[in-house]
Amino acid sequence: MCGIMAYVGDKDLNSVLMAGLWRLEYRGYDSSGVASIMDGELEVRKALGRLMVLQDILSDRPIGGGAGIGHTRWATHGEPSDQNAHPQVDCSGKIAVVHNGIIENHYSLKEELIKNKHIFQSNTDTEVIAHLIEENYNGDLKESVLKSVSKLRGSFAIAVIVSSEPDRIVIYREGSPLIVGLGNNESLAASDIPAIIDHTRRVIIMSDGELAVLRKDSVEFYDKEGKRIEKKEKEIKWSPTSLDKGEYAHYMLKEIYEQPEVIERNIALRIEDGEFNLGESFHFSPHDLAHLTDIVIQACGTSWHAGYIGKYLFEEFARIHTEVDISSEFRYRNPVMGGETLVIAVSQSGETADTLAGLREAKAKFLKVLSIVNVRGSTIARESESTVYINAGPEIGVASTKAYTSQILQLYLMALYLSKLRWALEASSIDEKLKGLIEIPKKMRTILNKADSIKQIAEKFKDSRDFMFIGRGINYPSALEGALKLKEISYIHATGYPAGEMKHGPIALIDKNSPVVAIATQSSVYEKMLSNIEEVRSRGARIISIATEGDKRIKDISDEVFYIPPCGENVSPILVALPLQLLAYYSAVLNKRDVDRPRNLAKSVTVE
Ligand code: AGP
Repeated sequence: MCGIMAYVGDKDLNSVLMAGLWRLEYRGYDSSGVASIMDGELEVRKALGRLMVLQDILSDRPIGGGAGIGHTRWATHGEPSDQNAHPQVDCSGKIAVVHNGIIENHYSLKEELIKNKHIFQSNTDTEVIAHLIEENYNGDLKESVLKSVSKLRGSFAIAVIVSSEPDRIVIYREGSPLIVGLGNNESLAASDIPAIIDHTRRVIIMSDGELAVLRKDSVEFYDKEGKRIEKKEKEIKWSPTSLDKGEYAHYMLKEIYEQPEVIERNIALRIEDGEFNLGESFHFSPHDLAHLTDIVIQACGTSWHAGYIGKYLFEEFARIHTEVDISSEFRYRNPVMGGETLVIAVSQSGETADTLAGLREAKAKFLKVLSIVNVRGSTIARESESTVYINAGPEIGVASTKAYTSQILQLYLMALYLSKLRWALEASSIDEKLKGLIEIPKKMRTILNKADSIKQIAEKFKDSRDFMFIGRGINYPSALEGALKLKEISYIHATGYPAGEMKHGPIALIDKNSPVVAIATQSSVYEKMLSNIEEVRSRGARIISIATEGDKRIKDISDEVFYIPPCGENVSPILVALPLQLLAYYSAVLNKRDVDRPRNLAKSVTVE
């Protein structure tokens, strides 16, 4: 998704804006640009391609002045091009706008503006905003922006500058994230915290329908009617160093290796003397949850896979009927849900448009809404009645790794918490599961210490195409996640399938050398998995099995075996995830892919 960076103060705009945009790279983009007011004139520099292209342009022709805006664009309307890159400007060349989101009524607005003799340079929806502000400009940028945004429909976070007011930046938020940073004699705004944390830890999170006027020594906030409002400051606790790759080649690899520590820290945080502590943002009382009849989990991508694992956990531990929905389906299918239903939104970013819409759909039906989120203060978190934070720290790699296993952990704990509340499991069984959980970080480290053997497997299969990932039971979603990881960063086609379903069609795809990754760890369906492996093997498939240490049988029917330490069936997806993440990572590196910024993808999909 697009990234916005804005700065007003005495530092060099080129370095501040570029450093902020580099920090937002992980959000995914295809072009970028900056703008400022230099000696009373609007200066714009923008280009198709990576930030290095913009960096080179600025080395030749730097911008200057006290206030500037920057943007990384992930194309929604209008192909990636120099012209369609932001900032977009008005006819007079005095107003510049950067925008994250989608203006749904841009077509009708554009027709109207063209009738009023406005000349458009791009085929973006964003340019409409610049011309609207031009049309409404009355010498007060704040007033002009308020008037203009009242005409917009859709989602938009914008930052605007005008040459006649060179000391300020006006920002507005509706449906796309925007935060303000308060520095010493400087103010900042950005789409996400990493872009401003080098300057300040004092942040204010904008809400929908709010405008801010940034000057270097003050920030004023207004509601959509133009009334002054007060906003609460937050302090960012984590340090900029957590944003660096350190000795790792990629953020994704760093985040894979952070997982044992993240899981360990969160187990300690959530379990105190056998009691569950689901965090300061969890507000449901035992009474609220004791009589639940249904749970509906809705999410996207990897978070949906984590939610799917949650289904098995809630039904196994708490005996509560649980459905799992892809948010983009959930939000439009007018789901049938009764009063005692808990809807859970799972989202790393807390900004995914479809998941946010699903949450709002649930609230419109007066259902209890819980979110399981990584980014504090994100929209999904703020709009939920309760939030359980996964505390995974910033996840920069587009491919979700530590957030995924952290989401599974929180779902596992939630399921045990509900089980205890409803006397669904014996206390001794809950204790035993908690003891097994505490062993997990050590077992994760054991697996990561064997990363080289996954690398060797990736090397043997680096020219293979069309992988099939198969699993059963709680590791069927693990197969889906393994396939998504591989395809999203290596661009190798991969499908995840329930192993038992192969004979109902997909086995037709299997021929000599078809790579099949089989999740065959010790479980209640282990024997069934062996038969499914035999089925595909007898048709020539090359088998990569994920199995439990000590399993000799699996060797006889696999070309490659990666062993994980023994663990409970219901917690095994956390361990199974690691070899699958590493397989995807090394395959992507071997195929020379941009591992942290895979093509066409964004870290946070804030548009539908
Ligand atoms: C996962 O590797 C992908 N980056 C993507 O599927 C992601 O999980 C999905 O877009 C949901 O994002 P969220 O967790 O921030 O809602």
